[in-house]
Amino acid sequence: MSTESTVEKLVSLCKRRGLVFQSSEIYGGIGGFWDYGPLGVELKNNIKQAWWRAVVQERDDMVGQDAAIVMNPTVWKASGHLDTFADPMVDCKECKKRFRADDLVGAVPAGTHGHDAAAKVTSCPECGGELTEPRMFNLMFRTYVGPVEDDASTAYLRPETAQGIFVNFANVLTTTRKKLPLGIAQIGKAFRNEITPGNFIFRDREFEQMEIEYFVKPGTDEQWHQHWVEERYNWYLGLGMRKENVRVRRLEPEEQAHYAKDTYEIEYLFPMGWSELEGIANRTDFDLRRHAEFSGRELEYFDEESGEHIVPYVIEPSSGVDRLFMAFLVDAYAEEEVRGEKRVIMRLHKDLAPIKVAVLPLSRHEKLVPPAREVWGLVRKHWMSQYDDAQSIGRRYRRQDEVGTPLCVTIDFDTLEDKAVTIRERDSMEQVRVPIAGLVDALREKLNTDD
Ligand code: GAP
Repeated sequence: MSTESTVEKLVSLCKRRGLVFQSSEIYGGIGGFWDYGPLGVELKNNIKQAWWRAVVQERDDMVGQDAAIVMNPTVWKASGHLDTFADPMVDCKECKKRFRADDLVGAVPAGTHGHDAAAKVTSCPECGGELTEPRMFNLMFRTYVGPVEDDASTAYLRPETAQGIFVNFANVLTTTRKKLPLGIAQIGKAFRNEITPGNFIFRDREFEQMEIEYFVKPGTDEQWHQHWVEERYNWYLGLGMRKENVRVRRLEPEEQAHYAKDTYEIEYLFPMGWSELEGIANRTDFDLRRHAEFSGRELEYFDEESGEHIVPYVIEPSSGVDRLFMAFLVDAYAEEEVRGEKRVIMRLHKDLAPIKVAVLPLSRHEKLVPPAREVWGLVRKHWMSQYDDAQSIGRRYRRQDEVGTPLCVTIDFDTLEDKAVTIRERDSMEQVRVPIAGLVDALREKLNTDD
């Protein structure tokens, strides 16, 4: 399958099945912004929940927080974003198309910023026309706080959630009374006025990040860096991503962001090639020192072992929900032939599947409706489920396969006699008959959940 056809198929499936819509589509849309529909919001929530569970709930060295999107603008001075969060932009003098200069050079992986690849490319890749000199373009969205629009009221939509964690480091440390190593996790929106958003939801102007700032004693940072690279890599495999499609790459010194001493990327083999899913950077004490300097506050940790005040180093695993959403879909998408017909199947891990169980009466016959509704009543208390009675049962199975529903429960005329239903599995298409009284237990066993 060509790159275009894979992405096109996904975009079309996402729209047709209510996963992702173009933002404000009825007005012609707006580049780099997307809306998540009824099934999309479920998948997105499931990705976030799986992440939170792995990095907060199941660890004793991590806590969560949720900071505001708009922060005191000095944050961005201290972090370096006002000065360096920029991409080189070039325009074609002939066809007027605009490009990111580093994309043209092809030396910098998609999604990274602040690298001046100083485009040596001088002609337009589309029409061969002459390109302008690269100009640096700051990617932060600007806004005003309060009624007066002047320099004093200028504020920014955060381009990363990370800074909300750094500025709360002392608050979290004091209130949780935790010792190092201590990690703070956050999920939230980030905004970047990307010069060339694209590849569906891979590079957006509004997106959601899942970030961890993991504070450690200096000298232990390299070992914790390795720990997090392994943890995060295994998380993707644990959620069913195919090993051959995920890799870890260590960035070259010239690829590092301004704050990083060393960075690994977890990359996914997207239809357009290997691209960043998640960055895992050693940010050293850069951010805490800068915020201490700009705020005048002490952002230190008292190490009881050595009796010294130290500025912790930080390991930062940082990923994007939208990009992971796309990767999980690309990875799960398959087409196969079943009895001479094409079956589109989304082999999503059951924890990610938007709908866990579909309840399907064989037909709309009046005798089947009451037991089918009763079964749905049992199931929906435990899992996200769907009741579907439109069209043939075969078509309904296909509809559920296409959006990754792991289990379908069918109510037929035998149900009226034996008080039993059929569970059909997405991947194997195997069917088993279980009594309604034991249905929830049987589903729980198959979904292997605690709900
Ligand atoms: N705090 C570090 C940081 O923000 P980054 O590599 O710029 O680092 C981290 O971003 C992750 O956020 C990326 O690996 C990617 O998953 C996601 N991301 C970044 N820019 C994005 C964009 N424009 N659209 C969608 N996701 C993006």
